[in-house]
Amino acid sequence: MCGIVGAVAQRDVAEILIEGLKRLEYRGYDSAGVAVIHQGELTRTRRVGKVQELADALQTAPLAGGTGIAHTRWATHGEPSERNAHPHQSGSDIAVVHNGIIENHAKLREMLKGLGYQFNSDTDTEVICHLVDHELKSAPGLLAAVQATVKQLEGAYGTVVIDRRDPERLVVARSGSPLVIGFGLGENFVASDQLALLPVTRTFAFLEEGDVAEVTRREVHIYDLDGNPVVREKKESEITHDAGDKGEYRHYMLKEIYEQPMALARTLEGRIAQQRVLDSAFGDNAAELLKDIKHVQIIACGTSYHAGMAARYWLEDWAGVSCNVEIASEFRYRKSHLFPNSLLVTISQSGETADTLAAMRLAKEMGYKATLTICNAPGSSLVRESDMAYMMKAGAEIGVASTKAFTVQLAGLLMLTAALGRYNSMSVEMQAAIAQSLQSMPAKVEQALGLDDAIAELAEDFADKSHALFLGRGDQYPIAMEGALKLKEISYIHAEAYASGELKHGPLALIDADMPVIVVAPNNELLEKLKSNVEEVRARGGLMYVFADVDAEFASDDTMKVIPVPHCDEFMAPLIYTIPLQLLSYHVALIKGTDVDQPRNLAKSVTVE
Ligand code: M6R
Repeated sequence: MCGIVGAVAQRDVAEILIEGLKRLEYRGYDSAGVAVIHQGELTRTRRVGKVQELADALQTAPLAGGTGIAHTRWATHGEPSERNAHPHQSGSDIAVVHNGIIENHAKLREMLKGLGYQFNSDTDTEVICHLVDHELKSAPGLLAAVQATVKQLEGAYGTVVIDRRDPERLVVARSGSPLVIGFGLGENFVASDQLALLPVTRTFAFLEEGDVAEVTRREVHIYDLDGNPVVREKKESEITHDAGDKGEYRHYMLKEIYEQPMALARTLEGRIAQQRVLDSAFGDNAAELLKDIKHVQIIACGTSYHAGMAARYWLEDWAGVSCNVEIASEFRYRKSHLFPNSLLVTISQSGETADTLAAMRLAKEMGYKATLTICNAPGSSLVRESDMAYMMKAGAEIGVASTKAFTVQLAGLLMLTAALGRYNSMSVEMQAAIAQSLQSMPAKVEQALGLDDAIAELAEDFADKSHALFLGRGDQYPIAMEGALKLKEISYIHAEAYASGELKHGPLALIDADMPVIVVAPNNELLEKLKSNVEEVRARGGLMYVFADVDAEFASDDTMKVIPVPHCDEFMAPLIYTIPLQLLSYHVALIKGTDVDQPRNLAKSVTVE
């Protein structure tokens, strides 16, 4: 949530900062701002709305200066407005950008007001500026002042501070919100995500929890929580596909939907041999860590949670290990029982989701045998702190609505099912069948994308609807949940998903001609049961949209539109049925004219609680 970019260089940095913000805009987009130091003066421009508003303002009134910080905001404290936009200042000397939430801001604000500081915003961030200013009265320099300041902060922060009187220095601090340092030639950078800096460098060092660093043009010094100098390894970025532009597509979301065959092919590469999934897909140490696992606890949020829900069916049905799945924000605040030989699996596109990260840290304290993350972001906190990592290699996902990340997560979880199955009760034949299914996924997804035009037409039916119900059974129930989440997220239509056997226990009361019912109906052992549920809806005058296998013997009539989905095996069916639901939400949103890539109130990477 929110994006940070900072630079210290000999050239003017405003353009670099704006380009960085554009690349981070998916993280938050209700206001943006930049502050630079030039000839001993601090100048700042802020705008409500998207980064483009800020870029336009800088076209009209350019900012010169080689040291600067910039921010794109997802509001937590204080409405989206210019006065609440970052950077925040203390007088005309100190400017600060901040990601995260300072939980003790109210207490600090009172204390600072008592010292005579005036507040100009409703944000929690402003306390950081004034604290730094106050500490500078006794500290020997900006670094020491920031070190003294962060000791007083409770909550989460990734923050960058500049001081007009010390114009060639950025001081950055990380606790709970990621920050990365980018190394250039005679210039250095900081950002909340390496994506922001790819146009200027590919060499990065990730700050660790509690780190404070001072960054000048020629040097970077990093200190740990206790103030000891530390070295954080420099790494070359592993991002091979710079997702910086939309190419021929109208939206990132559509581009990412269409990238799925390629993303799946990439995730499979080198991970299957001799008809079985290789343990090394989960890291070099995976064979040793996976072999005794008897229970899996999956933790995730949102779309990633839905992937975990699907995997529970597979792990229990096919791998013969027990499995619980829980939303991270619930898991982290309740007491759960730890079974012997348990593996904790986190699933996260960004690798920085605050709740998932906190749940993983808690699980480590509880004594899980091992932790594994299924993650798309190399170098992210989850990857660095987990014992094992399945790197998704889906390429950067920019659209706030997760699409390719979800299907690649499903593929990764199916691989995990096969890997754990091998150490438990899965036959060699089933392992081979899963391996084969995985290898044919990219082509099958390509076929499913062929439904695009038919779905675009179907979407017209939804444009005037306020609600929709999604139904599925077995491992298609989480797919129905994901379909409902996609629709509500980008078209703002209220959508719910039910396991269709549950209909008669309440939701059937909702059925009328104004409630479209979307059914995912692959040809599996639950099909006949699902057909009975479909009849229950039909009998109550409901209008259904059934995504069914070509062999499932559903026929379109006045009450039901059947959309034939390419035939596929049971292992890949959840993944294949996801595709038409993604396309449906995309086309409904297009018709409704919403902001597809940056839907209201949301952000891509949820780094606050
Ligand atoms: O980065 P993560 O996978 O941990 O993110 C989890 C959710 O915030 C995310 O999936 C969210 O639900 C998406 N906007 C869904 O499209």
